[in-house]
Amino acid sequence: MNRKKVTILDLQKRKMEHCRLTMVTAYDYGSAELVDAAGMDIILVGDSVGMVVMGLDSTVPVTMEQMLYHCRLVARGSQYAFLVGDMPFLSYQTSVTEAIHNAGRFLKEAGMEAVKLEGGQEMADTITAVTRAGIPVMGHIGLTPQSVAQLGGYRVQGRTAVAAQKLLDDALALEAAGCFALVLEAVPAPLATAVSQRLRIPTIGIGAGPGCDGQVLVYHDMLGLFDKLQPRFVKRYAHLRQTILDALTAYREDVTGGQFPAENHTYAMETAEYEAFMAYLSEREVN
Ligand code: KIV
Repeated sequence: MNRKKVTILDLQKRKMEHCRLTMVTAYDYGSAELVDAAGMDIILVGDSVGMVVMGLDSTVPVTMEQMLYHCRLVARGSQYAFLVGDMPFLSYQTSVTEAIHNAGRFLKEAGMEAVKLEGGQEMADTITAVTRAGIPVMGHIGLTPQSVAQLGGYRVQGRTAVAAQKLLDDALALEAAGCFALVLEAVPAPLATAVSQRLRIPTIGIGAGPGCDGQVLVYHDMLGLFDKLQPRFVKRYAHLRQTILDALTAYREDVTGGQFPAENHTYAMETAEYEAFMAYLSEREVN
């Protein structure tokens, strides 16, 4: 495949050409290398790292330093995909100045090309300021996991006509504020379709149905590596947790049963060298 680095202009063009965008999360060199090799358009270093890598119960405790660390690992592993770093809770809500400063760190210190932040109309001024500073912003509305306490749990959003109108207003406000793309998480499919048709920027859905301009899944979810939460919208393309468990168990049994290492896993020694060494040993042990 003759591949070129994906740019922000390609993402916009894909929307106009009705070509669906693909985005998957990655958190380290290895996952980024695989996602990139599979031809994904965008890699998101999501703050879901807190749950699937760090074992936290939510994304809320994730810090800027942790995000920057994971972004650097991902930047090293990817060559072609457009790279987006997720701004963690309280890194952009406290003031516009802090939001610009922290967003800039993703580009300056961690090899990202854009940032993602959660929230609707209330984030519009911040997004305008961050984009004016030259930092591309991906919005994220619907189920916004950093506000899980306020939302009362991980629940589908925009199910009533009033909530659907608010979601559309949020989407239009984020587009007007300068977002280059918008994640729609856990919203009814007809609403996501209506929103996608009314925006010039691409929407990327997760639990938002096929009417979005692209889709995103969390690496650990789609590969069956994480089964603490099993949202309805996840399609598992592999069951790696079981594959890995089987491999680890086989290794343990091989070692305890003496089948590993076998002769083909060991290094030989020249006979003459071995004999000389044995002679040295017996002399040493006699003295
Ligand atoms: O953190 C994350 O992985 C995300 C995606 C689910 C969109 O925000």
